[in-house]
Amino acid sequence: MWYFRENIEKVQGYEPGFQPKEKDVIKLNTNENPYPPSPKVLKVLAEISTEQLRRYPDPVGNEFRQAAAEVNGVQPENIMCCNGGDDLLTIAFRAFCDESRPVAYPVPTYSLYPVLAKLQNCDAIEVPFDDEFNLPAGLASTDAALTIVCNPNAPNGSFISIDEMASLADELSGILLIDEAYVDFAEANCAGLVKEYDNVIILRSMSKGYSLAGIRFGYAIAQPDLIAGLMKVKDSYNVDAVAVTVATAAIKDQKYFSETTEKVKKARGLLVAQLRDLGFEVPESCANFILAQSKNCKASKIYDKLIERRIYVRYFNLPGLNDKLRISVGTKEQNDKLISALKEILS
Ligand SMILES: Cc1ncc(COP(=O)(O)O)c(C=O)c1O
Repeated sequence: MWYFRENIEKVQGYEPGFQPKEKDVIKLNTNENPYPPSPKVLKVLAEISTEQLRRYPDPVGNEFRQAAAEVNGVQPENIMCCNGGDDLLTIAFRAFCDESRPVAYPVPTYSLYPVLAKLQNCDAIEVPFDDEFNLPAGLASTDAALTIVCNPNAPNGSFISIDEMASLADELSGILLIDEAYVDFAEANCAGLVKEYDNVIILRSMSKGYSLAGIRFGYAIAQPDLIAGLMKVKDSYNVDAVAVTVATAAIKDQKYFSETTEKVKKARGLLVAQLRDLGFEVPESCANFILAQSKNCKASKIYDKLIERRIYVRYFNLPGLNDKLRISVGTKEQNDKLISALKEILS
């Protein structure tokens, strides 16, 4: 085949988590929020007019920018709307990386980064985390055009402090993109760094904390010059009218957001304790998932046995991860069913 560029031919492509067709399953494999979006989202959705559908949307989603700016204590010029956080990642690779401008990131982390590097034909400098998932010292000296730190990190949920991220931003000569897709379940975030550092981009997703994975919405926070540059790279209408309306209603309902994210955090604490009681090793997580390692049974075997019971978690057949399972935090009821199934499997 000679139709595709050589690097496209070679790339494996990102493999999203399995989406089962059956309805009555316990789905803890793609880090969705177990709670529905705010009731205010359903109200605005019901009020979408045919006129909104007939016309092109606002190309930059100003309604959402205004609302997100208020929530994050910045100006609308600091915000760019995206078609999910993944859209921002694609935009960043296209904006900053090429054959002579590498990307760097600590590993293991979000498995989309190496795929985007291959698509963009840039080198990916992968700097290993230590066993405690501390920020690797070598990350500051790679000379990469784009450095990405997923914080909280996927797939383990570890969190690097704001001070450490500030020092990294200070040391880097290129861009530092902090992927905060899961930060809604952490106790702190790095958005404040944008005021001080002109090389920091914060990625936010509406898929997890706001229960809107189906609508595809995320956003960037950065200094206005960076936002203006990223805007040149994005698709002209990268967020549609329905998504902007829905995402705006969701981010404005901070009361509902706090209630549901707190429920997930509480369920996470309980799930970690229950898994540890069953003999799993589970590090503390600041995200809506946990990474569990069984000392007594192969992770792939547990994964298969859970599927037999219509419970889906995520198994990565990758070095360093193939002895672990990543489990999204569900409702208390879902988590209890998972624990009962695990008890059976391990008995
Ligand atoms: C680490 C990380 N970053 C970014 C994203 C992108 O999320 P979305 O495109 O749904 O906003 C994901 C999605 O799973 C993720 O795990």
